Amino acid sequence: MEKFLIHGGRPLHGRIAVSGAKNAALPAMAAALLTGEPVRLENVPRVRDIRTMARLLGTIGAEVDAAGGRHTIRCGEIRSPEAPYELVKTMRASSLVLGPLVARAGRARVSLPGGCAIGARPINLHLQGLEKLGARIRQEHGYIEAEAPNGLRGGEVRFERITVTGTEDLLMAAVLAEGDTVLENAAREPEVADLAALLVRMGARIEGAGTGTIRVHGVARLAGATHAIIPDRIEAGTFLLAGAITGGELAITGARADHLAALIDRLREAGAEIKVGEDIEVHGAGRLASVDVTTEEFPGFATDLQAQWMALMTQAHGASTITETIFENRFMHALELARMGADIVIEGRQAVVRGKTPLSGAGVIASDLRASASLVLAGLVAADETVVDRVYHIDRGYEKIEEKLSAVGARIRRVG
Ligand code: EPU
Repeated sequence: MEKFLIHGGRPLHGRIAVSGAKNAALPAMAAALLTGEPVRLENVPRVRDIRTMARLLGTIGAEVDAAGGRHTIRCGEIRSPEAPYELVKTMRASSLVLGPLVARAGRARVSLPGGCAIGARPINLHLQGLEKLGARIRQEHGYIEAEAPNGLRGGEVRFERITVTGTEDLLMAAVLAEGDTVLENAAREPEVADLAALLVRMGARIEGAGTGTIRVHGVARLAGATHAIIPDRIEAGTFLLAGAITGGELAITGARADHLAALIDRLREAGAEIKVGEDIEVHGAGRLASVDVTTEEFPGFATDLQAQWMALMTQAHGASTITETIFENRFMHALELARMGADIVIEGRQAVVRGKTPLSGAGVIASDLRASASLVLAGLVAADETVVDRVYHIDRGYEKIEEKLSAVGARIRRVG
């Protein structure tokens, strides 16, 4: 299994370019199932989850041509409207094909995802929404079978709680449904708005994407389109934190500050200097102050940056609390950070971090994508060598992170 070897203690200096957003590219790829015409996506990150989605689309019947960050996806015919367990168990976002398959083919068979390292993560809200649009749902042999032989019809869906991929799934189902659909308590994440922008280019009629109420007027068919994926705000945020934790100076290019406002505010409170211009520049403070954060849906502080923030707080002076409200089990990294010398106490959904503690390099194990990013950040300031095991987690969502960090002065390499 591949590992990262990191020698900490060097401030990072230079420019890092951000890749396209994994969590925007995944639904965009699924949206290509809604038409027989080619959908061209640009700025698609070269990460493992994208390759998994390409494989899934291939088993369904699409041709996927990937050249660098450009993907051309053409699904002339749905051969098999199914997401098999083998793929869903490696990537929960596979459930994003559910909405498009029912909308286009009138049926879908999608494996239930099973357990997850960060929480239960059921898809009941996707299913309840599809039922509201007239789909019949059954569960059998670990699979969800959804059917709408006469097509979906518009309806009102009020999500009990905010779900990002649930909103995306329903949006993709509603664009081809007959009549009007209203999605209430919809996710406001930029990735939802980006999906809607692609769907509109394909001919869909959508209003309000990016707000809590999305209105869709169903159309009979969609066409091909070309669309560039938004920059990855979580990757950008991780690099801002890398600059701050090492006390370095980094310019992040290609990121959108309006997608990172909550993180930028907290970083400034902690004492880091952030300049927003064409690039987002971070100048690490000599002395970091402790700042409390609570994860929330967008525009709040992203749960996908919580683990990386915890690494930063181990280097801040004083006690800070980190409250995780989105997932019930997303503190696995705390135990690994503690092995490196951090003082972290977990009580339910809250972690209390007391700093500043010197970190010392240790062997640590990545438990999920963002947890592994937090261990890399800790490794960048730890004394001596940190070995981060199971880096396949980080490869799911960060494009060549070790190369990007090495280019700005980090001593990090991948070993087989
Ligand atoms: N939930 C339900 N029922 C549902 C759907 C969600 O109870 O049917 C619960 C979840 O268990 C969770 C909460 O609602 O407690 C929010 O989950 P959400 O559905 O919003 O998460 P997701 O759509 O599965 C996406 C991202 C995650 C990110 C979350 C929250 C993608 C492909 N994934 O997941 O990204 O953490 O939104 O912002 O967009 C990552 O990139 O590392 C990652 C985990």
